Amino acid sequence: MEVDKELPACDFDEHYGYINTSTPYPRQRGTRKGQNDGICGCYNTILFGKGEFIMNIRDFRKPEQNINEIFTNRWSPRAMSGQEIDEKTLLTLFEAARWAPSSNNNQPWRFIYARRNTKHWNTFFNLLAEGNQVWAKNAAVLIVVISKNTFDSGKPARTHSYDTGAAWVNFALQGSLDGLVVHGMQGFDYDKAKEVLRIPDGYQVEAMIAVGKKGKKEDLPDFLQEQEFPSSRKIIAEFAMEGSFQK
Ligand SMILES: Cc1cc2nc3c(=O)[nH]c(=O)nc-3n(C[C@H](O)[C@H](O)[C@H](O)COP(=O)(O)O)c2cc1C
Repeated sequence: MEVDKELPACDFDEHYGYINTSTPYPRQRGTRKGQNDGICGCYNTILFGKGEFIMNIRDFRKPEQNINEIFTNRWSPRAMSGQEIDEKTLLTLFEAARWAPSSNNNQPWRFIYARRNTKHWNTFFNLLAEGNQVWAKNAAVLIVVISKNTFDSGKPARTHSYDTGAAWVNFALQGSLDGLVVHGMQGFDYDKAKEVLRIPDGYQVEAMIAVGKKGKKEDLPDFLQEQEFPSSRKIIAEFAMEGSFQK
């Protein structure tokens, strides 16, 4: 996707008002109707079809409080183009993961990956449940995320999964900022992953990730097209509790 640093921070659309974010990230082309042929043009506007805006993240996600838009702009589309992404782009996402916090700075996360059109691809693709293969076949990279369950001293690392979750979120947020699809997956064969990727004891298989360039919603099967929109969330009062646990 072309990047044009000269585009202004915000563009105005007659239907959606200001449609770009105010982050200092480089603007991507296609922030106005018709400029872009079906690929997302900026992070909070989702373009599907022939240059038409069909939805805007703000129509789906209304934060209760004022927060930076990187959080609400990240979501998990399934439509991907089937194109490759270059290694440097992928390294950017790993770089973001690298700076995640972890207990005692243990950094227990490990990412094992396969790029499409390489000899590794089928091994990773065959781990996926059929329901994920349907759309993840168009990913550029498939990743198995694992975490080391001890500190280097050998002591158990109680928060290894928690820490690795933090790394995944950094990875996903950077991918979203870069205009990529980053989609986490639990639907795969965990035991087979351990075996075929020769993951030793002491490492826990956590999840898989599909990364790719955005594609067209219409290329998904109908039942997935219906789910191709940013989901909402519980309200804060349902999960934040002062003093002690409350149902
Ligand atoms: C660890 C994890 C596992 C997931 N597993 C799957 C999966 O197997 N298949 C799928 O289509 N989506 C999967 N998802 C995507 C979630 O359904 C999605 O993140 C959730 O509905 C929230 O939506 P959002 O990411 O668009 O904000 C997974 C996400 C995470 C973080």
